[in-house]
Amino acid sequence: MFGKKKIDEKEQKRQLAETNRKRLINAQTGFDVREAYKELRTNIMFSLPGDGCKKILSTSSVASEGKSTTNFNLAITVAETGAKVILIDCDMRRPNIARLLNEKGDRGLSNVLINDCSLRTAIFKTKYENLDVIFSGKIPPNPAELLSSDKMVETVDKLAEEYDYIFFDTPPINLVTDAALISKLTDGVVIVTRQYYTDRKLLLQAVEKLKFVNAKIIGLVLNDVVYSKAGYGGYGKYKYGGYYKRGYKRYGYGYGYGSYGSDEPKSSNE
Ligand SMILES: Nc1ncnc2c1ncn2[C@@H]1O[C@H](COP(=O)(O)OP(=O)(O)OP(=O)(O)O)[C@@H](O)[C@H]1O
Ligand SMILES: [Mg+2]
Repeated sequence: MFGKKKIDEKEQKRQLAETNRKRLINAQTGFDVREAYKELRTNIMFSLPGDGCKKILSTSSVASEGKSTTNFNLAITVAETGAKVILIDCDMRRPNIARLLNEKGDRGLSNVLINDCSLRTAIFKTKYENLDVIFSGKIPPNPAELLSSDKMVETVDKLAEEYDYIFFDTPPINLVTDAALISKLTDGVVIVTRQYYTDRKLLLQAVEKLKFVNAKIIGLVLNDVVYSKAGYGGYGKYKYGGYYKRGYKRYGYGYGYGSYGSDEPKSSNE
């Protein structure tokens, strides 16, 4: 009885690890997905000209629109140019970045912010060249307070001395205030939307919230665009900008952990 349960758990873990592995750009990733990320990279690079470290935040209106997936793949794509990149998981409510790497991620940003570990020890070297990450760390009771602290400013300043790009993965702006707070430390904000999922009114609300804190919105990503006629199997397509062809079919997906503690649209499981 226990034996079978253990095997099931092991198998589930293996499958999850496999799914997470596929979410990140890898040798099997299709040409069009790679190209979409490169286009996004170029657009971001052109939106933030000048020298010095570029700090980019991704957020979305509600949960599960693909912020973490998009952010991670964008960070990989920028690191491929030879730039030194760090991705910080600032989502201390439903952290995702460690999961994508199948790591525990129990030491990270929150630990640094409460002086529980040094910045150096919180930096995780990924297998991707030029790409480091900082996990969100132990889930604290007061994320907004930590993220708006002087220690956060100091941490970002230190990282900016060492990295060419800092990407901030954040929770949905309509649900919690964290992204608006962090946007003050960044040069630009990318809003991630998801085809057939993002609600127009909620998106406009997100834009308003960002405008209210004077964030520079540098673009909109339309995630999970699937060309029904394309012969590529497997993963959804990403597109930068606002346009897409008609006739895509939708990808279903599930979400089974944590909550931001407010209403979020149910994902469809077609
Ligand atoms: N283009 C895509 N094609 C298929 N599945 C996707 C795509 N983008 C995201 N997903 C799936 O949707 C789920 C949510 O993605 P992700 O964690 O990136 O979203 P998020 O906006 O960061 O969520 P959260 O609000 O919880 O932080 C994951 O299970 C992921 O695998
Ligand atoms: Mg996320």
